[in-house]
Amino acid sequence: MSRSVLVTGGNRGIGLAIARAFVDAGDKVAITYRSGDPAELEKAGVLPVKCDITDTEQVEQAYKEIEEKHGPVEVLVANAGVTKDQLLMRMSEEDFTSVLDTNLTGTFRVVKRANRGMLRAKKGRVVLISSVVGLLGSAGQANYAASKAGLVGFARSLARELGSRNITFNVVAPGFVDTDMTQVLTDDQRKGIVAQVPLGRYAQPEEIAAAVKFLASDDASYITGAVIPVDGGLGMGH
Ligand SMILES: NC(=O)c1ccc[n+]([C@@H]2O[C@H](COP(=O)([O-])OP(=O)(O)OC[C@H]3O[C@@H](n4cnc5c(N)ncnc54)[C@H](OP(=O)(O)O)[C@@H]3O)[C@@H](O)[C@H]2O)c1
Repeated sequence: MSRSVLVTGGNRGIGLAIARAFVDAGDKVAITYRSGDPAELEKAGVLPVKCDITDTEQVEQAYKEIEEKHGPVEVLVANAGVTKDQLLMRMSEEDFTSVLDTNLTGTFRVVKRANRGMLRAKKGRVVLISSVVGLLGSAGQANYAASKAGLVGFARSLARELGSRNITFNVVAPGFVDTDMTQVLTDDQRKGIVAQVPLGRYAQPEEIAAAVKFLASDDASYITGAVIPVDGGLGMGH
């Protein structure tokens, strides 16, 4: 396989682990980045494309560059995401809308643009990175949870809309993963979380990447509109 793959937010954390998994499988992998050193990313075998997914024009430019170098995107992993945690009474409208603008509307922007090529090719794979928090809820994360729950409705609507075009849309819902995003938690918070996880530990980014790689593979050809938890059992029943 040598497909044109795009991973948003593939410069670090879960996104980088996903990008590496596709590189190892022989795919041509582009990633978006805002921070970090593109030369370092090139060493990982990916094509780094500078892009902020809150900006439609930057998304358009990124796709143009990828199409020129790798051809139309055949596998899209919408992974870029942010948190801005705050209790509701202290959450400003900007705290809410900015998280939605990246996690949900940003995903809309990259999925819509990828779809152009996928419709033409009459095939495509789209995997959205949600969170266990979108299904369970989480005090202090109403903005983040709303954005991640929104991805489920978004993916399932598109699975219905575009199934006849041989494009699949699936969601991966990670639990707690060892990345920069969870480094901000205190030791006590980490202990509290781990105590609720049946497998008794955080995930490594590679464990999320394995599920994503499967959903993009031929083995998952009849899976669409699914939400796959990769959460050590944390969200069971949700
Ligand atoms: N870590 C967890 O426990 C966990 C659990 C469940 C779900 N998730 C989800 O998994 C995904 C990856 O998380 P992570 O843990 O790897 O987080 P991370 O280490 O904080 O990385 C976030 C990634 O998103 C990118 N990003 C953020 N805003 C962006 C924007 N406007 N445009 C383009 N890229 C943007 C970042 O790029 P820059 O480097 O430029 O900032 C970075 O690559 C997120 O969607 C997150 O919500 C994480």
